[in-house]
Amino acid sequence: MIKVEHVSKEFVSAKKYQGLSGALKGLFSREKVHKMAVDDISFHIKKGEIVGYIGSNGAGKSTTIKMMTGILTPTKGKCLVNGIDPNKQRKKNAQNIGVVFGQRTQLWWDLPLSESFTILKEIYDISDEAYRERIAFLNRVLSLDDFFTTPVRNLSLGQRMRADLGAALLHNPPVLYLDEPTIGLDLVVKDNIREAIKEINEKYDTTVILTTHDIGDIEELCSRILIIDKGQLIYDGSLAELKETYGTRRRVTMEVKDTKEAAAMPLGQWLGKPEDAYDIEADEENSSIAVSFDKNQLQVSEVIGCVMQHMEVRDIQIKETELAEIVKEIYNHGMAKEA
Ligand SMILES: Nc1ncnc2c1ncn2[C@@H]1O[C@H](COP(=O)(O)OP(=O)(O)OP(=O)(O)O)[C@@H](O)[C@H]1O
Ligand SMILES: [Mg+2]
Repeated sequence: MIKVEHVSKEFVSAKKYQGLSGALKGLFSREKVHKMAVDDISFHIKKGEIVGYIGSNGAGKSTTIKMMTGILTPTKGKCLVNGIDPNKQRKKNAQNIGVVFGQRTQLWWDLPLSESFTILKEIYDISDEAYRERIAFLNRVLSLDDFFTTPVRNLSLGQRMRADLGAALLHNPPVLYLDEPTIGLDLVVKDNIREAIKEINEKYDTTVILTTHDIGDIEELCSRILIIDKGQLIYDGSLAELKETYGTRRRVTMEVKDTKEAAAMPLGQWLGKPEDAYDIEADEENSSIAVSFDKNQLQVSEVIGCVMQHMEVRDIQIKETELAEIVKEIYNHGMAKEA
């Protein structure tokens, strides 16, 4: 459905200098700053996939989305969406895609949502029948009725996001681009939006590309993720695989009688493993200790068994590394291990 082939985007802007004299200097200077926002990225997305596109602030996500939607022209490489080059066949491309930029609305600010929808109906040349069916569906998944006649500028953020999503989907596009669709939303609205995206994807086999800083979006919706870092694609694979490769830390919390004594136990010696294979933290308040380790080096059962042989354990809790932590680690240090 989507083919992105060796796409790069370089922004060139005038160099800025500090202070007033700097501003003057800037006026006459011809020095330019080059910024490689997207650097030789390639990926393919199949019909019906929901792909999470993630990366830290400024990584190049929005720039990639803008090239895929035809808003920006790539400096190098090319995109094909449903067989169409979005930069060359803009009109045809528009029928194919729906776009939501969470940071700003694309609706007419002063018009009620109902009128925006009527205009979109004309723009996309949607038949009366298709329109009625579509509105009924969107209304069901997004509850647009609550504010259908309110001017867009009076909508709350959550309502506006639902309105924007509805508008992007009115012409039933096979491809949906969502750039931070859940930004600033409360948990309930977030959940509604996620459910709506899921349902649209299931019912119409809509291909969805989603950028987000909310790991919950990814866990709820995406089977595949792409991670971009400083303009380069550093991961393309399943969520399960990412967790398997990078989420190998385990943390076992055990409630014990004497935290001090437990924290000082020679676990490495008992298990015949080096001291640096694990880490013990004591939590006096909850009279518990937490042992963290890499599951490739030690096994959960081995650790628990060994501790229980030496002391009384009242309660046990086992935690895997959360996706949020894995992602944070990758944003901070890149992909340490080769995937
Ligand atoms: N029109 C532009 N002119 C110059 N530089 C730009 C322009 N648009 C984006 N950039 C730069 O390109 C880089 C990538 O920006 P982009 O908006 O794609 O990041 P992002 O991954 O969407 O970040 P965020 O998570 O903050 O939305 C940034 O360093 C940004 O400053
Ligand atoms: Mg962005």
